[in-house]
Amino acid sequence: GGAGHVEDFQFSFEGPFGTYDQMQLQRGLKVYTEVCSSCHGLKYVPLRALEGDGGVGWSEAQVRAYAEQTFEIYDEELEDFRPARPVDHFPANTGAGAPDLSLMAKARAGFHGPYGLGLNQLFKGMGGAEYIASLLTGYTGEEKEEAGTILYENKAFPGGWISMAPPLYGEDVDFDDGHSNDLHHEAEDLAAFLMWAAEPKLTARKEAGFIGVLFLAVLSVLLYLTNKRIWAPIK
Ligand code: HEM
Repeated sequence: GGAGHVEDFQFSFEGPFGTYDQMQLQRGLKVYTEVCSSCHGLKYVPLRALEGDGGVGWSEAQVRAYAEQTFEIYDEELEDFRPARPVDHFPANTGAGAPDLSLMAKARAGFHGPYGLGLNQLFKGMGGAEYIASLLTGYTGEEKEEAGTILYENKAFPGGWISMAPPLYGEDVDFDDGHSNDLHHEAEDLAAFLMWAAEPKLTARKEAGFIGVLFLAVLSVLLYLTNKRIWAPIK
């Protein structure tokens, strides 16, 4: 069937000048917290990364409150659980056999476009955010049982049958900013959040890259003019 089908979603962080939309990251974090974290971990992502401009735009106090109210961490020294602190990472979660989502948006390919020229990656984004959004919106509703496991048909999942039951149906969470919580938007916001989790420095990297290209362009002009000048008496 149509397994492995990835939709082209329009994300704010695509393209050479794309940046994260922090309101979207906050919404995606909410979907992750309320739905996905019951099975999936995010063990490589420090909670303090949520703070400020490079994060989801929260203050230190907001990050602290979120950490304390949301997660319990096993502390080796206390030999007991305690509320999470900003210095802790999001907890791992292997209970349901679900893969960690920290790097998932980089581990899966995004929308390639039909002709494989490689240009879509530059202009439409190369991350697996599109794959994740396509996966969450790609359930057909068909199920089958194989060797005691229930599998769900999914248009995006390679092979077409995944053991994860549809985690989102739409209206699963209420967004604080009043944004639409239909399935498409929840999936899109969640995928944006996981892209940030996998590559929090994307914006800084693009800025550095742009300055680098600008520098090289100016340097080329100067070298061209210098070259002309050096050889002028000989020609
Ligand atoms: C696999 C995302 C909720 C259980 C996956 C994969 C992603 C994902 C991206 C990897 C697919 C791949 O290998 O290409 C999410 C998101 C969730 C969510 C974004 C929340 C919206 C859940 C929940 C459960 C769960 C609530 C448990 C009830 C699993 C399992 C797999 C999986 C068992 C492995 C499936 C397989 O390889 O057949 N999930 N998940 N997930 N997830 Fe989730």
